[in-house]
Amino acid sequence: MLKTFYVSQALKLEKAAALSGTAAWQSPSNIALVKYWGKHGHQLPNNPSVSLTLAEAYTRTRLLWRPAEGKTGRMFFRFHGKEEPAFAEKMKKYLEKQAEVFPFLAAFDLEVESSNSFPHSSGIASSASSMSAFVLCLLDMEARLSGQTPDEEAFFRKASWLARQASGSAARSLFPYVSLWGECQEMEGSSQETAVALTDLHPVFRTYRDSILIVHSGVKTVSSRAGHTLMEGNPFASARYAQARVNTARLLGILRSGNLEDFVQLVESEALQLHALMMASTPSFVLMKPETLQIIEKLRQFRYESQLPLCFTLDAGPNVHLLYPDEVRTQVQEFIHTELLPYCEGGRWIDDHVGDGPFRY
Ligand code: PMV
Repeated sequence: MLKTFYVSQALKLEKAAALSGTAAWQSPSNIALVKYWGKHGHQLPNNPSVSLTLAEAYTRTRLLWRPAEGKTGRMFFRFHGKEEPAFAEKMKKYLEKQAEVFPFLAAFDLEVESSNSFPHSSGIASSASSMSAFVLCLLDMEARLSGQTPDEEAFFRKASWLARQASGSAARSLFPYVSLWGECQEMEGSSQETAVALTDLHPVFRTYRDSILIVHSGVKTVSSRAGHTLMEGNPFASARYAQARVNTARLLGILRSGNLEDFVQLVESEALQLHALMMASTPSFVLMKPETLQIIEKLRQFRYESQLPLCFTLDAGPNVHLLYPDEVRTQVQEFIHTELLPYCEGGRWIDDHVGDGPFRY
């Protein structure tokens, strides 16, 4: 456990409590290539997962702290300028759980202002970007109060550890380009507790595109928490975890070599396995919509005809992420406009790409 290691030390509260300050971070969402689906213990994954860090789908969070007016600190939360009791409750619960890690929080009132770059209820999960932005602000606060400048690598690893406890996939949003979360022999320094960055990445992936086609923007019918739990009785669970380990090892090789043919095959297989697991659980559930399948068919036909290396992946929902190298952007985006937008809700899509991770703004 990293907990003892990460507990905030050396804060002289009487002195620190006299201080007010602010921190502000922009942190991106991420899209998994090898999927995390099934967990145990305290948000520990049953298999390693690998994701692309996005750039245009992000959360911006500003944290203001000041000495508590009452006996104990309170938190005020606003999303796009409005109070959001459900989000506020989630964050409060999270902070309560982290009381041992951030004992100084009890002495402060916190004001949190948050906004997403992507439209609210666009069907894009925001927990990865929002929770990573929030923990980064908390860590800045901790650093400011302690007067110490943390080592950058340790700072982001701790952020990943904290984000993971709020939402597993959030652990992967902290690093540039590609992150891996979960122990894996092929990656030195990999861990169940935090994600790590893949540094020896082929350059083609640093500018990879992700066009997110919004098929349906409603709230998911099955939460990812419920989905993870259903893996416990899934008859294919152990085969899936073994397959995910094999796919992680293969994908790491592909990400280093830049073999796009293998990339296409592996990424699509992972997306469909995720949805196959949902269909095979008890009770079963289907998150794809007819338009999801129509887009997949169109895409495969276009790939066959054009021989361009584009592929799709899916999150736990009906929206389609179209992945392709930057150099074929013009052709692929023309294809999206003419052939795919009719299947998108209100013709909506998000023109995203791989990014270099969170930053202060
Ligand atoms: O982080 P969670 O608990 O919302 O789970 C995310 C699961 C998937 O998005 C379906 C896959 C993944 O690895 O991101």
